[in-house]
Amino acid sequence: MDRGDIMKLLLVGASGLVGSHVLKLALADPRVTHVVAPGRKALAAHAKLEAPICDFSGMTGDEPFWQGGAVICTLGTTIKVAGSQAAFERVDHDYPLTVARLMHKRGAQVYVLNSAIGADANSRFFYNRVKGRLEQDLAAIGFRSLAFVRPGLIGGERAERRRGEGIAEAVLKIAAPVLPKRWRINPAPVIAQSLLDCALAAKPGIRIVPSEELTGQV
Ligand SMILES: NC(=O)c1ccc[n+]([C@@H]2O[C@H](COP(=O)([O-])OP(=O)(O)OC[C@H]3O[C@@H](n4cnc5c(N)ncnc54)[C@H](OP(=O)(O)O)[C@@H]3O)[C@@H](O)[C@H]2O)c1
Repeated sequence: MDRGDIMKLLLVGASGLVGSHVLKLALADPRVTHVVAPGRKALAAHAKLEAPICDFSGMTGDEPFWQGGAVICTLGTTIKVAGSQAAFERVDHDYPLTVARLMHKRGAQVYVLNSAIGADANSRFFYNRVKGRLEQDLAAIGFRSLAFVRPGLIGGERAERRRGEGIAEAVLKIAAPVLPKRWRINPAPVIAQSLLDCALAAKPGIRIVPSEELTGQV
């Protein structure tokens, strides 16, 4: 799929901060013909959007809506919300991987992941290890085009308050003029544009977009 081609996109995580920006951009982009966005929540109706309600813990792969040439994944939770490391891993590793495997089986050639800075299967940190293992496992599937967009702290308005992230965001905003680009806040719309650009460009091989390429006004 080269730039300019039309595309049917499958988006998981569309109700989240980054995912909602991807959805908005994709629906407005004439190169995207149709968006399938399975999730737990109903989404606002749009002529190009199909948003089936889906329980990821029970997905069989037989559901008819798993279709599209490209996948963008912005799924994710926090250990606090998930309740345990195992539950976190289910959402941040197992669900994105299951979606990838079944979409690849159904012919998708492109997968773009909203990963995270520091993703590393051998990291000392649990969060970075989960993200790194997901990247590794996705690479083994055989997509023609795979991209890992790796933001640092994501900036944007959330429905729920995340105290730690709120404090980090305030500190990073004050320190922004003297911080290296790598450590600046990455605004959700900038990350979303990068994810969509990767899906549309569909460059063969594996591409990593680092946090320093995701800066802009929050
Ligand atoms: N927060 C940061 O600063 C940061 C930094 C780097 C990378 N990241 C990563 O970036 C990605 C996107 O982040 P975000 O801030 O946009 O996330 P978010 O706003 O929390 O959205 C997460 C999405 O995942 C879905 N989800 C969560 N748990 C689910 C479950 N059990 N079953 C089905 N769907 C579930 C949510 O659906 P519901 O609306 O139904 O809950 C939502 O659509 C995540 O993978 C995150 O780890 C985050």
